[in-house]
Amino acid sequence: MTQPTITAGEFALRPFTPADIAWVYAVSLDPAVQKYVQIPMPYRVEDAEFFVREMAIGAWERRERAEFVIVAGAGNGTGVGERLGRVGLGLDGNGAAQVGYWMDPAARRRGLATRALRELCRWGFAELGLGLIEWRAEVGNVASRRVAEKAGFTVEAVLRRRLVHRGGRVDAWVGSMLPEDLDGAGGTLSTGRAE
Ligand SMILES: CC(C)(COP(=O)(O)OP(=O)(O)OC[C@H]1O[C@@H](n2cnc3c(N)ncnc32)[C@H](O)[C@@H]1OP(=O)(O)O)[C@@H](O)C(=O)NCCC(=O)NCCS
Repeated sequence: MTQPTITAGEFALRPFTPADIAWVYAVSLDPAVQKYVQIPMPYRVEDAEFFVREMAIGAWERRERAEFVIVAGAGNGTGVGERLGRVGLGLDGNGAAQVGYWMDPAARRRGLATRALRELCRWGFAELGLGLIEWRAEVGNVASRRVAEKAGFTVEAVLRRRLVHRGGRVDAWVGSMLPEDLDGAGGTLSTGRAE
């Protein structure tokens, strides 16, 4: 199966290409990405190249990951448009996946991460046959938690020192989404759950 472009009206999710390396490098220097995403420190352009070639393009060929660039105005299915962010699924090979995402700083606070995450999950359940998608974020990453909860994830627990950020172990919030969590929302955003 060729990795598809997923269209969703005002934006699309398209596969990575080597032309995305410079953009991945630039966004990865953003302080919030450096704080909350497990990436090499200091971050070099070679790290962005590894992400695009191995963790995105190569990992789809090995069916280990499904990484997408969120692009604007690509409802015509071409996948050509301004780059807005990245969403991806790490596939465990046994019907479960772990989600990851970051947005270009210029595209934040427009509800795009939430909508892109929902489209990714919808595709993962429908086309990859996933039975569970897990979300993890560092305790205190309220933006990521808000995105996950608005997309339909249920936050379940705190896992002690389960993530490695900035070279040290940190506590993690963990949550999950099941296929029926999307069905119940009827295609519109849920209002989110109380903290
Ligand atoms: C987390 C991130 C992807 C959110 O992207 P975004 O496009 O701004 O998210 P949305 O616009 O969909 O916002 C969804 C909700 O989160 C809230 N939110 C977004 N950023 C927030 C922030 N910094 N602080 C508090 N709430 C925030 C929004 O207000 C919105 O809630 P509302 O509808 O109740 O107002 C983005 O901030 C980011 O890239 N952060 C750095 C990387 C990261 O932490 N990734 C997740 C790792 S697990």
